[in-house]
Amino acid sequence: MARDHGFHPVRVTRIIQETADTRTFVLDAPFSYRAGQFLTFRVCGTLRSYSMSSSPDTDSELMTTVKRVPDGLVSNWMHDHLAPGDLVEATRPAGVFCLREVIFGPALSELAGRYPGRLEVRHHLDVRNGLVTGDQVREFIAGDRDGDFYICGPPPFMDLTERALLSCGANPGQIFVERFESVPGAPAGQEQEGTVAIVLAGQRHTVPQHAGETLLESARRAGLSPPFSCEAGNCATCIARVTEGEAKMRVNNALDDDEVAEGWVLTCQGEPVTPQVTVVYED
Ligand SMILES: Cc1cc2nc3c(=O)[nH]c(=O)nc-3n(C[C@H](O)[C@H](O)[C@H](O)COP(=O)(O)OP(=O)(O)OC[C@H]3O[C@@H](n4cnc5c(N)ncnc54)[C@H](O)[C@@H]3O)c2cc1C
Ligand code: FES
Repeated sequence: MARDHGFHPVRVTRIIQETADTRTFVLDAPFSYRAGQFLTFRVCGTLRSYSMSSSPDTDSELMTTVKRVPDGLVSNWMHDHLAPGDLVEATRPAGVFCLREVIFGPALSELAGRYPGRLEVRHHLDVRNGLVTGDQVREFIAGDRDGDFYICGPPPFMDLTERALLSCGANPGQIFVERFESVPGAPAGQEQEGTVAIVLAGQRHTVPQHAGETLLESARRAGLSPPFSCEAGNCATCIARVTEGEAKMRVNNALDDDEVAEGWVLTCQGEPVTPQVTVVYED
């Protein structure tokens, strides 16, 4: 198992009042983490995730900063009840919303160094620079309008780039776009062949598969109450392990490649892609 998904007691050592409705909780938690990761706390029987506001590179203490949400259960409880010395339960840091080195980065740098004047590599990281805009595309190709343009990436990025190129006079014959269209599945809610077996608290429950239904939705349809929080693929609260068959996640902002390879799945995002799928929640 690549990661420990259990809860651990962590002690609040200091509390910093940042603004009227925002506090930083300094924690005595011997976890290593990467910038951008978060802890999931179990408070009042409920699970909520909070990102680290400290940096593993520059801070010796681990901190998380919580803003009060009007009428929110956990954020207000943390503000109103937590004091230095208190223990809270939290998972180890999780999340893959982290700045990393760029795929093939060293190889691309090496090529650019070997062929100056022929190859220039410019990186735009959405996580740092925001989404690419049409103006940035136009500025990028300003001196190279006669070239060929090869576009590959998420569909909205490809559409924006193609529109930007055409708007500044590029010829459609110069533009090459690689699109991977997904094959439409059966309409959501319609029963399809196969079953989903859910093992929760040691009990096995089986329901027929419904097209377009996530594993979490199947579990609820089976009358179960598995853990979940964000339902957006961000927090990993709904994690379980696929032990038979295969499930594909729509969004995964919480599990790393090793965990996915080991069969871990965010059940709020996982849809069965094989007729039989068995998913086991940790006790
Ligand atoms: C990966 C991740 C990282 C995060 N990092 C941070 C962070 O660093 N700092 C931070 O402050 N937050 C962060 N969050 C958000 C945090 O996890 C909580 O969602 C947030 O604090 C609100 O939780 P709560 O329990 O206070 O509010 P909740 O009880 O969840 O309520 C949220 C809102 O919904 C309303 N509501 C609740 N139940 C109902 C209902 N039945 N009907 C109608 N309305 C309802 C409430 O009135 C409130 O306005 C992060 C979330 C994720 C997923
Ligand atoms: S509930 Fe947050 S990732 Fe599934």
